[in-house]
Amino acid sequence: MKTAGKLIGALMSAEGKSNPYPIYREARELGPVTQIAPHWFLVSTYAEVREAMRSSAYLKNRYSNVDEKQQAVRRAHRSIQLFDESVLLQDAPEHGRMRKVLGEAFTPRRIAAMEGKIQQVVDQLLDALAERASAGQVVDFMEDFAVRVPLTVICDLMGVPREDWSRFRPLAVDLNATLEMLTDEPQLAAADAAAAELDTYFSDLIERRRAEPRDDLISILLTAADGEAGQLDSRELLANLELLLVAGFETTTNLLGNALAVLFDHPEVRENLLAGKFTYSQFIEEVLRFDAPVQHMIRSAGEPGMKLAGVPIPVGAELVMLMGSANRDPLRFPDPDTFNPARPDNQPLSFGGGAHYCIAAGLARLEGATALSRLLARFPRITRVGTPIRADRHGLRGFRELPVALNV
Ligand code: HEM
Repeated sequence: MKTAGKLIGALMSAEGKSNPYPIYREARELGPVTQIAPHWFLVSTYAEVREAMRSSAYLKNRYSNVDEKQQAVRRAHRSIQLFDESVLLQDAPEHGRMRKVLGEAFTPRRIAAMEGKIQQVVDQLLDALAERASAGQVVDFMEDFAVRVPLTVICDLMGVPREDWSRFRPLAVDLNATLEMLTDEPQLAAADAAAAELDTYFSDLIERRRAEPRDDLISILLTAADGEAGQLDSRELLANLELLLVAGFETTTNLLGNALAVLFDHPEVRENLLAGKFTYSQFIEEVLRFDAPVQHMIRSAGEPGMKLAGVPIPVGAELVMLMGSANRDPLRFPDPDTFNPARPDNQPLSFGGGAHYCIAAGLARLEGATALSRLLARFPRITRVGTPIRADRHGLRGFRELPVALNV
């Protein structure tokens, strides 16, 4: 049997990035929690990933656990610092303060009110796909549809001009590299350059909205930042806007791509979906479980004497929580490698859990169900052509290219 260290190596290989699921099975066989290095643990089962996510004793803020030298390294990289300053990597009480301000934009009522807008965006993009196909051009589902749906939605919500969208995909891809388990120097340099470009872009946009407020998220957050309550400082405002942009679309883009790939791999699922045997919401939930867009998250032990599944976790040690593995844990999901949208009590951990549970899970689910239902209603015979290319990633799992024929 492999050690946890060898399994990490396997997950980082091209084969592991393409299909991590057999490696996860080996990880679960090693035990729910296994040590990779003195301060590094792998958590691979549902109950334990869920427990660590929901416990406030496991922290998100990496500064609290690292020494001065490591802190200086983190501060030297704007790409890392940006996430550090955003809601994603805060702990109480700062986390609650930022989350309350951002949460205003994602209440269930506001999300439900966006449905018509999402349908409109999807239908316009489907028209554009049909035009490309009838002009004999190759249709790449990722570039021509899966990127544009969430990016248009988040740009409209935030008040970012739609015409700037094409700049954001490469910037987000470069920046999000810092969220991977291991990042090398060239990746960090590209991430820092992307962060600098986004800083310039958003600083300029903030100034424009300050001079001329609108009914958009940037203006709302600006009010929170400039108001007497001082709910966000200017650095936090910048970090959170950039987080929303990059978190708001690459993940959802990958949900759409992973969902379509499931339909190509499982023709019976497509038939049943078209026949109404289960809902699009059930289908999307099962895609989230079966091939999650976010495969892992990191937490660190904030108190001495902690244990997970009986394994002592020293204070400061980091846990790599494999949600992609937890979602295939046979103790939680019977027959986990079968794609079954009708499975009862389907609650994957793909949006995290506890205080950091994805702030926009409702929006992402709505975008997924709306996009897939309208796509299949319009192009029920859509097929894969050529070879899809997976992104060279473990943490954010999706396709870089997914060429399709619409077969209208
Ligand atoms: C399928 C799409 C998505 C997936 C799989 C996803 C997944 C996640 C996960 C795993 C977390 C971290 C939870 C944790 O640490 O416990 C998270 C947090 C977050 N997500 Fe999402 N997300 C998606 C879409 C979105 C969208 C569309 C937005 C914004 C428009 C968004 C904004 C955020 C923010 C701001 C946080 C930080 C919340 C906090 O730390 O309190 N996400 N998401």
